[in-house]
Amino acid sequence: MDPLEAIVDEARRAFDAAADAAALENAKARFLGKAGALTAQLKSLAALAADARRERGAAVNAAKAAIESALAARRAAIDDARLARELAADALDVTLPGRGADRGGVHPLTRTLDRVETLFRSMGFAVAQGPEIEDDFHNFTALNTPANHPARSMHDTFYVEGGALLRTHTSPVQVRYMETHAPPIRIIAPGRVFRVDSDATHSPMFHQVEGLWIDRDVTFADLKGVITEFLRRFFERDDLAVRFRPSFFPFTEPSAEIDMSFGDGWLEIAGSGQVHPNVLRAVGIDPEAWQGFAFGMGPDRLAMLRYGIDDLRIFYENDLRFLAQFR
Ligand code: PHE
Repeated sequence: MDPLEAIVDEARRAFDAAADAAALENAKARFLGKAGALTAQLKSLAALAADARRERGAAVNAAKAAIESALAARRAAIDDARLARELAADALDVTLPGRGADRGGVHPLTRTLDRVETLFRSMGFAVAQGPEIEDDFHNFTALNTPANHPARSMHDTFYVEGGALLRTHTSPVQVRYMETHAPPIRIIAPGRVFRVDSDATHSPMFHQVEGLWIDRDVTFADLKGVITEFLRRFFERDDLAVRFRPSFFPFTEPSAEIDMSFGDGWLEIAGSGQVHPNVLRAVGIDPEAWQGFAFGMGPDRLAMLRYGIDDLRIFYENDLRFLAQFR
């Protein structure tokens, strides 16, 4: 066999055996490089006579062209294979079903507040609102809380520069509502309140639901009836017991703390009492003509009981594993 044919044959086999671009370049050098097999054939032409050289030269050139075209073909095949691999790796199956959107849920405290509102509305209460940044007058003075009262200390109250403060309870909404509405009045006022306090059962921000019912002859018996009815409906338990413990608030007289039965014991859930005549006077309502009760309840407590949660702080951490249970 002519050595040229052998070289072309061998080059084809070497190129076909090259698995990637780098191996192909190595194989190319063996045939077309400076020390390659074909180059050696070209050099050997110098020793031939002119006629034989022309003939042999044409044959060597043809062999070179054959090797180069085999090289180009193999290069294209390796490129195609690489592209096909990359496409397969990046493949996007547009026929796969989508992942779907995660459903959100209403926060357990919001659910509780919604429930509280629904139940009180059904008993004829309107829902009122007031500002979270309050002044001294509405948070304390108008609520018969004298300047030397311990509740005013820096220890319990967040004061804001300029003399304002973060309301420590929802009771200032009573005052604001009575300033702008004549009795009869029957409202609840749910909202955020703030106190310098933080542990498993106290958060510096928590919620209260204020209640206020003023009319000609609203008595402590009405307070007992409304609260007991509300709690029984909220917890869906007709045998739920409610206890009123004598207490003191500057803005109610008489005052009581309200406990509900829980397990074998009692749990405090609200402060309450008959609105103090001084509070009515501060907003220009005649205490001889009008009277009624007020209460301030802790809906965070209600939510903890309803959902069996023992650490208040979990409501405010926004841990999705917790929140997802309320979808
Ligand atoms: N404002 C009182 C508190 O925050 C609760 C309360 C409201 C008591 C209304 C009596 C009447 O503790």
